[in-house]
Amino acid sequence: MKFFVDTAEIEPIRELAATGLLDGVTTNPSLIAKSGRDFMEVTREICGIVDGPVSAEVVALDHATMMKEAEVLRKIADNVCIKVPLTVDGLKTCKALTGEGTMVNVTLCFSSNQALLAAKAGASFISPFVGRHDDNGFDGMDLIEDIRLIYDNYNFATEILVASVRHVTHVLQAAKIGADVMTAPPKVIHDLFKHVLTDKGIEGFLADWAKTGQSIL
Ligand code: E4P
Repeated sequence: MKFFVDTAEIEPIRELAATGLLDGVTTNPSLIAKSGRDFMEVTREICGIVDGPVSAEVVALDHATMMKEAEVLRKIADNVCIKVPLTVDGLKTCKALTGEGTMVNVTLCFSSNQALLAAKAGASFISPFVGRHDDNGFDGMDLIEDIRLIYDNYNFATEILVASVRHVTHVLQAAKIGADVMTAPPKVIHDLFKHVLTDKGIEGFLADWAKTGQSIL
């Protein structure tokens, strides 16, 4: 499963990229606002840190203006992935852009039928928002299971990008289902490394090693 980080903050992206485990980045208008940075400038900087897809979202609601915005955004770098909302105009834009060889991430997906439409529109990625789904009394992971089944039934190439990830259990469940990608805030990705028994184990080994009086270097 590929790991994307869901942020527009440069330092956490650099830190995660240095682990060699980061496959891409997702941003959205809220994350750009939170960063306080200029959209074009910060997107360019992120694209220079990560080789994989960097999602940059259009804000227009009509197809013609979405295409104009996408034109500006895709010039930023070769690894820009245009993010469009799951609407009629969004999918029209998706179809046009992927037809031209541009990567597209269809965002704000909350149903399997929406995911089916995005795949038919040739989306590179579909982003079902599991956390927001859970918040509204549904089970976000049921949605991922259904999309996996539907995409496998028809061999759709669209990658399932599990979004709105809130905790490590979401990541585990997504991996068990066979989602292609997950995007999570930096903290959730850092939490994946942690286990109390790993810390305790290191402590014990180091204490015993000190007793030997040896050193490796
Ligand atoms: C995905 O691309 C979105 O940016 C993101 O995962 C939304 O997450 P949220 O529901 O925590 O805002």
